[in-house]
Amino acid sequence: MPSLNGAVVLVTGANGGIGTQFVREALARGAAKVYATARNPRTWDDGRVVPLRLDVTDPVSIQAVVDAAPDVTVLINNAGAGASTPGILSQTDEEIRSNVETNFLGPIFLTRAFAPILSSKGGNTAIINIHSALAWYAVMGIYSATKAALWSATNSLRLELLPAGVHVVGVHVGWVDTAMAAHITDSKVDPAVLVSKVFDATEAGEFEVLADDTSVQLKAGLSAPLAALYPQLGDTAV
Ligand SMILES: NC(=O)c1ccc[n+]([C@@H]2O[C@H](COP(=O)([O-])OP(=O)(O)OC[C@H]3O[C@@H](n4cnc5c(N)ncnc54)[C@H](OP(=O)(O)O)[C@@H]3O)[C@@H](O)[C@H]2O)c1
Repeated sequence: MPSLNGAVVLVTGANGGIGTQFVREALARGAAKVYATARNPRTWDDGRVVPLRLDVTDPVSIQAVVDAAPDVTVLINNAGAGASTPGILSQTDEEIRSNVETNFLGPIFLTRAFAPILSSKGGNTAIINIHSALAWYAVMGIYSATKAALWSATNSLRLELLPAGVHVVGVHVGWVDTAMAAHITDSKVDPAVLVSKVFDATEAGEFEVLADDTSVQLKAGLSAPLAALYPQLGDTAV
């Protein structure tokens, strides 16, 4: 089982609400080093944290981080971009491209770049990909679509990395109390609670985290008729 104790962890989007918790909780669980990567890295109050500049949409930036962090044992693809409107038809070209680059292509290119490093360690390694419950509920247009695509990629990468002993975890959660969901008035998961669940699951060798009831219900809903998930389809769904 991958353990955080003694791990060398790399977090993308480390300055964000969930990313900051990943850094703090990795330290609390005994990580030897945490690469806290961000487009604009900041200073941290623990000597085990190494801030690095990383824009996940930039191949040059990805290669620079791979060169700077050859000792990574746990890669956390957390960085993500939200969407300002709920539908693809109202989202701008720029927003659509940015969501695809940040939420889908970024994590898969970063994972490909780190795969040889993780595979060379002989086990006790992991990749954690942050999807969303909205991967299974298409009410945020391109955001939902990129998270569904990342879910599929995670499932593929898990099989591809199995022979090398790299454990791959996919995370689904509804609203989380961070800047990304600042406009949401529904109940939100505390980022610290989410991260604790994710690390518990990773250390227990689980493959998927359904961090709240929303995620559990939406995954179950995939096997129901479409009109159960989207009642607006009504009797037109057969
Ligand atoms: N909050 C929710 O309700 C919720 C629910 C389900 C899943 N998620 C997912 O959880 C993850 C973390 O989001 P959060 O809630 O912590 O939101 P957040 O506080 O807005 O953090 C998102 C982070 O991603 C970073 N980022 C965006 N584009 C990037 C890029 N091109 N390269 C590197 N970093 C980039 C941002 O960096 P800057 O500081 O430079 O902008 C920011 O630090 C995301 O993947 C999100 O989709 C969130």
